[in-house]
Amino acid sequence: MSRAFPTELSGCAQKLMRDRHATRAFRPEAVPGETMRAIFSLAGAAPSNSNAQPWQVEVVSGAARERLAEALRAAHAEQRTSVDFPYSEDMYAQVHQARRAAFGAGLYGALGIGADDHTARAAYNEESLRFYGAPHAAFLFVGGDGGARLAADVGAYLQTLLLAMTAYGVDSCPQGLLSFYADAVRTELGVTEGKLLVGVSFGYADETAPANRVVTGRAPLESTTSFHS
Ligand SMILES: Cc1cc2nc3c(=O)[nH]c(=O)nc-3n(C[C@H](O)[C@H](O)[C@H](O)COP(=O)(O)O)c2cc1C
Repeated sequence: MSRAFPTELSGCAQKLMRDRHATRAFRPEAVPGETMRAIFSLAGAAPSNSNAQPWQVEVVSGAARERLAEALRAAHAEQRTSVDFPYSEDMYAQVHQARRAAFGAGLYGALGIGADDHTARAAYNEESLRFYGAPHAAFLFVGGDGGARLAADVGAYLQTLLLAMTAYGVDSCPQGLLSFYADAVRTELGVTEGKLLVGVSFGYADETAPANRVVTGRAPLESTTSFHS
């Protein structure tokens, strides 16, 4: 018997996935500890190859967050970049580059930063190392050999975490940039194993900030997905 859709669950999924978006300005209020535990417990429901769950998650708040922000600022100022997962502009296909450019134009346009104003863009990036003002940040490490398959599992964890946050009314921004200073994060948090994939700033959005008015589109279904039968 075929079921009629949307059901309550598909309606919730639509809302959850479409309501989540990257937040780039936060209010200072902390997320209650109980809410944080609920969110990170739920994120642990993420799927992984053979259920290995190869993630290690480090969450910073309060004084630990302040110390880490300072360590990131110093690493940035001294150009002590250290990436566990190599990054290059060349890794993108032309079609992906075009989408990145459209996104950049939307974000910097909303901020009033011109396309050629590299100084202002760099200053904005530097500021983002302070977690866009969020009171908390989570750092997602990939365990084992940190290879592509294990990183994919941590990617699944990342999305599960972001959706769990949305479900609990918590706003977030995944930040690849926070992983560009992996050694600084490791040293500050005393982490001895794993590769740093991404950081996630989280808290409650400052709804008045222009950065939070950016709307991102998505490629049409046909351009990314083929159905074979
Ligand atoms: C792995 C990953 C890394 C990202 N890194 C950054 C980052 O360093 N800085 C930033 O402002 N946004 C970052 N983002 C957010 C993306 O720009 C954002 O998800 C994308 O533009 C789609 O917009 P939306 O999340 O609002 O739907 C990252 C997202 C992901 C998934």
